[in-house]
Amino acid sequence: MKSSLILLSFSLAALTVSAGEASDPDVITSKASDIEFVGEQYRQLPFPRWLTEFTGMTRWPDLDPPYIPLDFIDMDKIPDFKPYRQGLCGVNPRDACSFDCDNCIAHDDVYTCPKLSQTFDDGPSPATLRLLNKLKHNTTFFALGINTVNHPDIYRKTMEAGHLMGSHTWSHAYLPSLSNEQIIAQIQWSIWAMNATGHHFPKWFRPPYGGIDNRVRAITRQFGLQAALWNHDTFDWKLVSNDPIRTEEQIYEEVRKWKSQGGGLILEHDGSHRPVDVALNVIDILGPDQMTVAQCVNGPDYIRNF
Ligand SMILES: *[C@@H]1O[C@H](CO)[C@@H](O)[C@H](O)[C@H]1NC(C)=O
Ligand SMILES: *[C@@H]1O[C@H](CO)[C@@H](O)[C@H](O)[C@H]1NC(C)=O
Ligand SMILES: [Zn+2]
Repeated sequence: MKSSLILLSFSLAALTVSAGEASDPDVITSKASDIEFVGEQYRQLPFPRWLTEFTGMTRWPDLDPPYIPLDFIDMDKIPDFKPYRQGLCGVNPRDACSFDCDNCIAHDDVYTCPKLSQTFDDGPSPATLRLLNKLKHNTTFFALGINTVNHPDIYRKTMEAGHLMGSHTWSHAYLPSLSNEQIIAQIQWSIWAMNATGHHFPKWFRPPYGGIDNRVRAITRQFGLQAALWNHDTFDWKLVSNDPIRTEEQIYEEVRKWKSQGGGLILEHDGSHRPVDVALNVIDILGPDQMTVAQCVNGPDYIRNF
């Protein structure tokens, strides 16, 4: 029986992350975007037969998806850097190459672009539709698996409008805090949600909170994923938490400054309305002369289309 609308909303702690700028790895600034999972619409996407045959399951998982062993994953290729909670950096040597702790970029990470380009995390959500109405250029959306199965229609609309879809995990986990199996589960279920909705396997991966190190990379690479980071952070999520140290006008000022400096990748969010309000104005500042992450590096849109 279907209950009335249940809003499961949880606040997520986040780090101030901005590659290229020095940041204090030990400071957690405040709360991040509230990611809303809308109960009434949850699991709108039917669970595919191929997934039942493969996993033995009959419904999409909750926030903590089960690990399903895959024969192409070689556990021996995963270095045993220690898991650590978000903000508790420094437990691993520098060669763990953490983006959020040390601004470390691996050889295959994408973090900038010849043209200054927007990217959007945390959708699909009803707010995404407002962006679609306005966007005149193709941009990149990093989707959460759980939101994809909540809003498959919005995912498809985004993709059909010509935008590039990348993975942002299943349920927005801070991956370096998880076991190898839990990281794999976050990735595999995200990919399966994208395949079941868009009939494609993603190439591009955006780690929540910028939480990626060489242990996480060793896993995501085995899925053929490549990390798409950023070098300009709007901190638009601080508006959601009404963080008084961030105003809309500050964001626009910084975007104008970035524009005068040349290319780059800008981090924005489409999981709720407030950051989308800002994004609509950022589109006006930047105009449509932007690239998708794939175009930035002349790479493929997807690993595979079905
Ligand atoms: C966006 O992508 C679609 C589909 O790949 C393509 O047909 C369209 O020309 C692209 N639009 C722009 C403005 O590049
Ligand atoms: C991807 O989706 C297709 C159906 O569109 C299905 O046949 C295939 O098994 C799926 N593959 C995986 C590994 O998700
Ligand atoms: Zn996110």
